[in-house]
Amino acid sequence: MRIPEDVRKDIPLTGEVIYFDNTATSLTPKPVIEAMDEYYLRYRANVHRGVHRLSQMATHKYEESRKVVAEFINARFEEVVFTKNTSESLNLVALGLEHIFKPGDKIVTTPYEHHSDLLPWQRLAKKLGLRLEFIEGDNEGNLDLSDAERKIRGAKLVAVQHVSNALGVIHEVEELGKMAKEEGAIFVVDAAQSAGHMEVDVKRLHADFLGLSGHKGPMGPTGIGVLYINEEFFEVFEPPLIGGGTIEDVGLEGYKLTEPPERFEAGTPNIGGAIGLAAGIRYIERIGIDKIERQERKLVKRITEGLDELGIPWYGPRNLKKHAGVVSFNVPGLHPHDVAAILDENNIMVRSGHHCALPVMKKLGINGTVRASFHVYNSLEEVETFLGVLEGLVKSLRS
Ligand code: ALA
Repeated sequence: MRIPEDVRKDIPLTGEVIYFDNTATSLTPKPVIEAMDEYYLRYRANVHRGVHRLSQMATHKYEESRKVVAEFINARFEEVVFTKNTSESLNLVALGLEHIFKPGDKIVTTPYEHHSDLLPWQRLAKKLGLRLEFIEGDNEGNLDLSDAERKIRGAKLVAVQHVSNALGVIHEVEELGKMAKEEGAIFVVDAAQSAGHMEVDVKRLHADFLGLSGHKGPMGPTGIGVLYINEEFFEVFEPPLIGGGTIEDVGLEGYKLTEPPERFEAGTPNIGGAIGLAAGIRYIERIGIDKIERQERKLVKRITEGLDELGIPWYGPRNLKKHAGVVSFNVPGLHPHDVAAILDENNIMVRSGHHCALPVMKKLGINGTVRASFHVYNSLEEVETFLGVLEGLVKSLRS
């Protein structure tokens, strides 16, 4: 398979725009659209609730999708719970573990988290009188691992993003997971920006809980996400939502919950979304995660070189081995939104602003960035076009 040429043929919109907003959401390959179409056109029915053949077929495809996800992250089938997105997954973790904390217990995270991996812990800490501590790090997003070791000592829970959506830094999640486990702390991973772009193996990362979104790296539809729950926590984790589908027996006085994963999926799930997500995972697995990673590295190398040549400051680690396919920058003298609007006039889609990571912006003393983020279908030619537009912009500002 030629990368990115052959992949681009499968992805609507790649021929029309330069899409550099993959951290917000990726484009959708035709096989994903076809898999969802098939569900809606050929076997549209609810799951786990019918003996008729359409319901049987929908249930089979839905559960087969869970299997695809489980293999993708090296989990057991029962450990995979479908949610809406990473934000929901991480919120569920905080809610479902609330009862295990005592006042004064310590939660450790980093200053680089997306709001979705920060606000749930802030709220929990405030409600229960917990200590929330942050591992020190520099302005590139590199964590101080000695400080991590000190902070994690005695922690009850450690929550870390795999990749920063604002700075592109890849954190040492494996090492942090090991430290957390040695301390007997629960380890939570936000894999929103890593899944589908690099290997995410829950065992290797020592994750007890992990959240990911289907619509980003895995190229699935929006509205479907995953919460991985290590089976050791099946009895500890209290499902924040209960009701339809989560029970084994109910009387007027009480109920008995059923086994995972159904225990953790109340109500009719996003069936078409799960089927689309599995199609996305199959699609990226056919390409190969290593090839996706290689292509993104190539693009990051060229874009950062190009920005340096133009004198445009960019953020995140200078060590490109630690830099995922997310490059934030600012054109001096211009607001990030103005730069994004100019790029849009040139048919280039990027995100601008604080990227739901306000503490990162505050740490850097800026109000936002322009962010170009990649997937395997992006090309070096697109990066050159992008740099050409920025070159014109920089020249016009100087004249
Ligand atoms: N968290 C997503 C982003 O960074 C939406 O754009």
